[in-house]
Amino acid sequence: MRMNIVQSVATPIAKKLVPLPVRLWAKDLLNARRVRRNPGRMVLVSEILPAYAAFGGRILWIGCRRYTKEYGALLERNGGECWTTDIEIAHAKWGVMGRHFTWDLLLIDRLIAAESFDILLCNGVFGFGVDARQSQLVALQAMARILKPGGRLLLGWNTDRVEDPTTFDFVQSAFIGDDLVARGARYSVPEAGYVYDFLRRKE
Ligand SMILES: C[S@@+](CC[C@H](N)C(=O)[O-])C[C@H]1O[C@@H](n2cnc3c(N)ncnc32)[C@H](O)[C@@H]1O
Repeated sequence: MRMNIVQSVATPIAKKLVPLPVRLWAKDLLNARRVRRNPGRMVLVSEILPAYAAFGGRILWIGCRRYTKEYGALLERNGGECWTTDIEIAHAKWGVMGRHFTWDLLLIDRLIAAESFDILLCNGVFGFGVDARQSQLVALQAMARILKPGGRLLLGWNTDRVEDPTTFDFVQSAFIGDDLVARGARYSVPEAGYVYDFLRRKE
């Protein structure tokens, strides 16, 4: 209760005294700290990304935020070559320097040659920009085109925001499950309301 009174007084004062860009920066810092502590995120960083890094090859990380900036180095630690992409120009600063492009995931196959990536990591993009079911299907078809036969796809998604993307007939016909971290093709983190699906493009 006391905290609420303090907050209700402090917030309008902060709005008057602190310039908007500074407030947005502080909000983004707090958000990054919250995401890094999320149990689903901890699984991603400690188990899933190292497992993908172990394969090496050409890797594409889709969707860049402050808290993903270190992922490029993590994914390259076994000799891989990591590229990054995001639809927002302002997010380029969190991508891999010299290997980032600003682009729409739904059109990714118009920019990138067919069958040119070994691994695509699409985490938290469905439900956070690619929201409509039809858009998700278009994105999946575009990703399948740029993935090598046998190439790997990670789909990470929030159960309260996204309908299971693996139920698309297209996913069933173009991909098979991938037992990436000895947990089967799906790693659920119920306490985070999050699911990781591990897929491989059929040969
Ligand atoms: C919630 S963030 C997830 C970031 C990161 N992939 C992660 O693991 O948390 C969603 C990101 O997807 C990007 N995004 C949304 N729609 C997109 C699209 N159509 N093409 C490319 N990036 C998109 C947003 O700009 C944002 O940076």
